[in-house]
Parts: sequence; structure tokens; C-alpha cells
Amino acid sequence: MPDPIFADPRLASLYDAFDGERVDLDAYLGIAREFGVRSILDIGCGTGCFALLAAADGIAVTAVDPAIASLHLARAKPGADAVAWHEGTVDALPDLAVDLAVMTGNVAQAFLSDDEWLATLAAIRRRLVPTGHLVFETRRVQARAWESTSRHSTPCSPRRKPLTISAFRVRRSSGSWIVVSFP
Ligand SMILES: C[S@@+](CC[C@H](N)C(=O)[O-])C[C@H]1O[C@@H](n2cnc3c(N)ncnc32)[C@H](O)[C@@H]1O
Repeated sequence: MPDPIFADPRLASLYDAFDGERVDLDAYLGIAREFGVRSILDIGCGTGCFALLAAADGIAVTAVDPAIASLHLARAKPGADAVAWHEGTVDALPDLAVDLAVMTGNVAQAFLSDDEWLATLAAIRRRLVPTGHLVFETRRVQARAWESTSRHSTPCSPRRKPLTISAFRVRRSSGSWIVVSFP
């Protein structure tokens, strides 16, 4: 069951504006270029920011996400026809043999149990060439990234307007929420 933030059309449509310019994706593209990859599997592609960036770089991209609202947004973006979009999870994908699998934007932290994580890793392995790589990230909570989030956000997609954010909520690991507002 995808998180409502990505599956509800009203919330998913805020994602790009809220997440800003996505300089974080440069590292993934840099790795893809360094490895000379020709094909990528983008797991948890969301609204397609990285999938479209990689496709524009001439890489064959397969992108998968269980959140249909995010996929709708991705499919509507310029260049989307170059990407093979799939709704669902990696284990449900057809056979593939890609050079690189990625989980950008903290997707790895969507897997909440060891069983789910290990099953996902196994499903990814089956879709990589023998010399393939998986690149992912995890959030460093100590960096308190929410404190440096800009009130003014420039989204990755040129179709989205810049957004001015007045406040947002962050869920603690305890399950409670804190509201972060801008002065
Ligand atoms: C924070 S968003 C990141 C989206 C995108 N990778 C990016 O960088 O903008 C996390 C994404 O992981 C997706 N997700 C959650 N569970 C998943 C799963 N089991 N398999 C693949 N993607 C999943 C969510 O639907 C959401 O789109």
C-alpha cells in the first residue's frame, strides 16, 4: 500500500514543488556516467524526476512505483515517452537485465522490515546484469534537513510553478508529528 503522500493526487501534485531543484540527483547521474551504464531501473520513481533526467542523457530507463498518482504526474512530463513506466513493486516487473538500479530520494527507507528489504534486494538482483550495481541512499537524521528546507522551492519539472511554503509537518520515529513553520 503506497504512502498517501505519493498516492493521493492532491498530495502527489505538491511533491515536485516541495522537493525543489533536486541537486541530489546529480550524484546518481554522475555515477551512471562514471559506470557508463546504458540501462537503469529506477525503483520508487515517484514523479519521475530522475527517470527523465537519465532518459534525457540517452540511458534506457525502466521506472516503477506503487503510487499511481505520482506515476500520472511523471507520465505527463516532457520526455516521458522515453521511459518505460510501471505501477507496482520490483518483484512484479517483467524480466530485465539493467546495468544499474537506483533508489533516489530515500526510497530505501520505505521498506520497513528486513523481510521486505531482503525480498526487494533479491528482486532487484534478478533484474541486473551480473556486473550490475544498485545505488541508494539513506537519510542522515543528524543533519536535520527539515531545518534547512527553503520556504521558496524551484521544482525539478519545468511544468510546475515555484512554491512558497509557509509550514510543513515532519513525523518523528515515535509516530508523533512536529510542525515546522517559516518565520
Ligand atoms: C520520497 S519518494 C522518492 C521518489 C523519487 N525516487 C524521487 O527521488 O523523487 C519515495 C517513493 O518510494 C515509493 N515506494 C514506496 N514503497 C515502495 C516499494 N515497495 N517499491 C517501490 N517504490 C516504493 C513511493 O511511492 C514514493 O514514490
